[in-house]
Amino acid sequence: MRRGAAFAARPTPWPARYWNARSTSAPRSHRFNCAVPACCSQASGRLRREAPMHDGLLRIGSAAVPYRYGADCTDGLAEGIEALGLGSAIVVIDEAVQSHAEPLLSRLGQRMQVRPIVIAGAEQHKRLSLVEEVLDRAVAEGADRTSAILAMGGGLVGNVAGLAASLLFRGVRLVHLPTTPVAAFDAVLSLKQGVNLRSGKNLCGAYTAPAMIGCDLTWLTTIPRRGLLTGIAEMAKNVLAVVPGRERDFEEALANLPDRPVAAFTTLFELGFDSKAPMLRTDPNEKKAALVFEYGHTVGHALESVAAGAMSHGEAVAWGMLTAAEASAQLGHLGDADLKRHYRLLSHLELPAPRIALERFDLESLATRLRSDNKRGHIPCPPESAPMVLLRRLGEPVADGDGMPLIPVSIGTALDAFEKVTATEEL
Ligand SMILES: NC(=O)c1ccc[n+]([C@@H]2O[C@H](COP(=O)([O-])OP(=O)(O)OC[C@H]3O[C@@H](n4cnc5c(N)ncnc54)[C@H](O)[C@@H]3O)[C@@H](O)[C@H]2O)c1
Ligand SMILES: [Zn+2]
Repeated sequence: MRRGAAFAARPTPWPARYWNARSTSAPRSHRFNCAVPACCSQASGRLRREAPMHDGLLRIGSAAVPYRYGADCTDGLAEGIEALGLGSAIVVIDEAVQSHAEPLLSRLGQRMQVRPIVIAGAEQHKRLSLVEEVLDRAVAEGADRTSAILAMGGGLVGNVAGLAASLLFRGVRLVHLPTTPVAAFDAVLSLKQGVNLRSGKNLCGAYTAPAMIGCDLTWLTTIPRRGLLTGIAEMAKNVLAVVPGRERDFEEALANLPDRPVAAFTTLFELGFDSKAPMLRTDPNEKKAALVFEYGHTVGHALESVAAGAMSHGEAVAWGMLTAAEASAQLGHLGDADLKRHYRLLSHLELPAPRIALERFDLESLATRLRSDNKRGHIPCPPESAPMVLLRRLGEPVADGDGMPLIPVSIGTALDAFEKVTATEEL
């Protein structure tokens, strides 16, 4: 990649008024659904019913991460960020969400220096070179150890900015402001910050606890339907692999998406949070029981990597889950009824016809990626195999003797299962 190719064109689209701290005595104008209970009680009935502010602490190991999720909650988010006492905010923004960022940055600019860095979010740019560009720009914009990096965008921006925050001056604070379902309901509920190497997905990274997570669910309403549906694949993963009892909530959220998107997003947030939070508390680095969240991600990452930007993370994970389910069935772990439930649940995501979507992947490229899966080493894995999460029934992974929800699956079995998925008539 040409250096800087992932950056949106300079000059910065931000007016200079964002760039300088203003008086700290600016009046606060609370709006409905801000994080202040007294104010929220004034909220408009509809929004309040659909999107009460979720405001609390996410415990990831010893870290307690404040989070705020609501709708039209600029003031609540700004107050949370201001409470961190930052010297300045370096805001890494996906170019697609600049208009969403404007009110928040404008408000933050009244209290602190705000330096936006706009990047083009594309998977092929999720590389160390982009992290380095962000670091150089942050320093050029005057970042110091009192600064935080704010990541506003999808999982890609979260990972790139997250890794930059863990490296800048050997670690500055990180604030996640997710704008996609993958990021809001899954990626930011994690310490993992990773970028891709030429040899594969997320092979290089660090564990970093954010200082805060904040999301205005209305940001997600500008994502095209297809992106929304495939992004929600991570929530289908949680239902299939962790909380099958929440299948009805998931389907209700999907039904609400067209007319009551904020209500749908609220349900999906609860689903993501309730699935992940209990495991992150005891397995913060996702190296033991929480590896179950890698369901669908072995073949999913291989597909995403080979697709080089032509397939979204969520879509790749959906195909990866079907492949894992087929492999689980072939190996005698998963019954036919639960295999069928996979196809039924994932059919809601309106995935493109599998043959059309997948026929361009040659099996040898997939095999190569599977051999360098980033979960290798969690368990002993013979050379011609890849570590996969398989299920014995919904919500119950196949575990090894130490309780790890990961087992080596021969590359041949994985590819057979993948071919079965591509030939399916079930979707
Ligand atoms: N634990 C983790 O760290 C973790 C977990 C899951 C996924 N991920 C990573 O996240 C990435 C996928 O994230 P993603 O699905 O959010 O993709 P993404 O960040 O690439 O965003 C997808 C597209 O949506 C656009 N976009 C973002 N917000 C928008 C909005 N509100 N309106 C309109 N367009 C918008 C972006 O410009 C981009 O084109 C992958 O790189 C994956 O590896 C990481
Ligand atoms: Zn994922």
